[in-house]
Amino acid sequence: MRRVMASEVLTAGVFRRLHAKRCGEADHLVRYVYNQWNNPDINGVVNLRDTTQHYCGNVSRKMVFGERFFGQGMDDGGPGIEERKHVDGLFTILSCLYSFGVADFVPWLEVLDLDGHKRIVMNALKNVRKYQDPTINKRMEMWNLGRKSEEDDILDILINLKNSENEPLLSVREIKTLIVDIMIAAVDNPSNAAEWAMAEMINRPDLLAKACEELDRVVGKKRLVQESDIPKLNYIKACVKESFRLHPLSPFNVPHISSKDIDVGGYFIPKKSYVILSRRGLGRNPRIWDEPLRFKPERHIVDDGSEVVLADHDLRILSFSTGRRGCPGIVLGSTMSTILLARLIQGFSWRPPVGTNYIDLAESSGDDGALAKPLIAHATPRLDLQIYSQLMEN
Ligand code: HEM
Repeated sequence: MRRVMASEVLTAGVFRRLHAKRCGEADHLVRYVYNQWNNPDINGVVNLRDTTQHYCGNVSRKMVFGERFFGQGMDDGGPGIEERKHVDGLFTILSCLYSFGVADFVPWLEVLDLDGHKRIVMNALKNVRKYQDPTINKRMEMWNLGRKSEEDDILDILINLKNSENEPLLSVREIKTLIVDIMIAAVDNPSNAAEWAMAEMINRPDLLAKACEELDRVVGKKRLVQESDIPKLNYIKACVKESFRLHPLSPFNVPHISSKDIDVGGYFIPKKSYVILSRRGLGRNPRIWDEPLRFKPERHIVDDGSEVVLADHDLRILSFSTGRRGCPGIVLGSTMSTILLARLIQGFSWRPPVGTNYIDLAESSGDDGALAKPLIAHATPRLDLQIYSQLMEN
C-alpha cells in the first residue's frame, strides 16, 4: 500500500494535475476569513484551529473526491455540517493513534479494550466512512457502467490501477481503507503547524511584519500568493519549519520495530525492539539548537541564499522523518502548510481578540502537541478589498 501511495498517488504528475483543486480551496480559505470579518455578529474574530483544520480537510477531499463534500460547504467558503462531522471523525482517530495503548504491548488485552481506544476508533471510523464510502461506491459504479472515462482525482486513479494481468490492482475494500489513510495523513500536521506559527507570531508582531514584508516583496498586494511563489518564500517556510521543530504534532513518532540487531549512535538496539523517537526531544535538544524554546524562524535561513525546505533528512527535527518509512507526502504536505500560513498572513492583519493583548501559548496536556486552547484571533483584511470581492464572485 505504501508503494501504491508513493508511486501512483503522491507523484509529481498527480501533484501537478490536482493543482487547480488545491488553489480553489486556498481561495475559499481567504473567502471564509474575510466573511468572518464582514459578519457583524462575529466581527473578525476567527477560530484559527477550526479554520486551518477545515482547510486541510477541504483540500484533501477536493483532491481525493473532486468535490468539497456530499452536500455543499457553507456559502461563506467555510465547512458545512457534513464536513465538520467528517473532520471531527478524522481527529478522533488521530487522537488514539498517538496515545499510549496498553494492548500495543500486551496484545491479548486487546479484547478487553481497557483504555476504550478500540471503541472510540471504531465509532469514529464508522462516522468518517459514512461520508466517504457512498461516494466511492457511486464512482466505482460510474466507471463500471462506462459513465466515466477520464481520471479527475485520486479516487479515479485508485480505481483504474491495474496489475500485470490488466485486472484492478485494488479491491473496493482496499481503496476505501487507503482513502481513510490519505485523509488522516494530510489533515493534522499542516493545520497544527499553521495554528502554532500564527499563535507565536501574533505574540511577536516583529515576526509577522517580516513575513508580510517578504510576501509584499515577492507577491505584492495586487494578487494572492500562489504555489508558484513558494520557492521564494523562505521566511514563511522558515516559520512553518520552526513550528514543526518547537511544536511537533505529537511528542513521539508512530512506533517502529527494529528488524535486526543494530548499533545506532553508540546504543545497541536489539532486534524486535519498539523504537520510538521523541519529536520534542529532537526539536528542543539544547545541544543542537540555540535557545531551543524560543520561536526563531531565522535559524532555518542560511546566508548563502539557499532555499528553505521543510524536510530535515539529518533528523535534527522529525518533520517528515526519513528513510524507507519516512513520509511519502513531503511535497504535498510542504505545499499545503506553506500556502495555508502564507494566505493567512498575506490576506489579513492579526491581533489577539478584544480584551486580551497576548495569546496564551500553553500546550495541551494530552498527546496531540496542540495549543491547550484553540487559537482565537482577530483578523482585518490587509489587501485591496477588490481582491476579496473577486473571490466572492467565483
Ligand atoms: C506537513 C505535512 C506532513 C508531515 C509533517 C508529515 C509527517 C509524517 C511523518 C513524521 C510520518 C511518519 C514517518 C515514520 O513513521 O517514521 C508520515 C508518514 C506518512 N505520511 Fe506524512 N506528513 C505530512 C503530510 C502528508 C500528506 C499530505 C500525505 C499524503 C496524503 C502523507 C502521507 C503519509 C503516509 C502514507 C505515511 C505513512 C508512510 C509509511 O508508513 O510507510 N503525509 N508523515
